[in-house]
Amino acid sequence: MKIAVISDSHDHIWNTRRVVEQANRLGVEVMIHCGDLVSPFMLEEFDRFQGRVHLILGNNPGDQVLLMRSILSRQGRAEFHGWFGAIELGGISIAWIHSPDEARHIARSGDFSLVCCGHTHRWSMEDMGHVLLLNPGEILGRKEQPGWALIDVVTAEGKSEEAIKMGGPVDGAGPGKKPVWSDFFGVERIFLEEEVLIL
Ligand SMILES: [Fe+2]
Repeated sequence: MKIAVISDSHDHIWNTRRVVEQANRLGVEVMIHCGDLVSPFMLEEFDRFQGRVHLILGNNPGDQVLLMRSILSRQGRAEFHGWFGAIELGGISIAWIHSPDEARHIARSGDFSLVCCGHTHRWSMEDMGHVLLLNPGEILGRKEQPGWALIDVVTAEGKSEEAIKMGGPVDGAGPGKKPVWSDFFGVERIFLEEEVLIL
């Protein structure tokens, strides 16, 4: 299962269109946005995504009322999680929040295998052993080359998080070896392509 983690698109229609196009081409099933989408009209760009997009607010929340109404009108193709998101996908538990400081506290809780954040507009990846703390950088392209994170889940679907923690069902994670996040998923940094898009 492939998951896209993106952040800080800040009303940049063209780059958001590029990431959606790339994600579709790479077979991404789920997209997680770590905040600062800003304007509700940006949802139209995610309508082009073939899977489901999960959204949270950032520190630039824009018109929240219209944003929520617009998400509801999409009947499940977009899901709004407020300030903090937490889901299980492909057997891995994922949490995300805009603030890197808060993300670090959540990562230390040990409740998740992957904790994502945004806000700095800079890519960072910190291996904390059983959890990966990830900032996918920015879609906006203000502070660095715009890009995002592709998560490739390698665990078999249907394995419960509890079973994974026990170290039983994953290859190479038998008794005596407590599994780490990299037993379950890989991460690749994807930069936006420069090709001209046909509108
Ligand atoms: Fe931002």
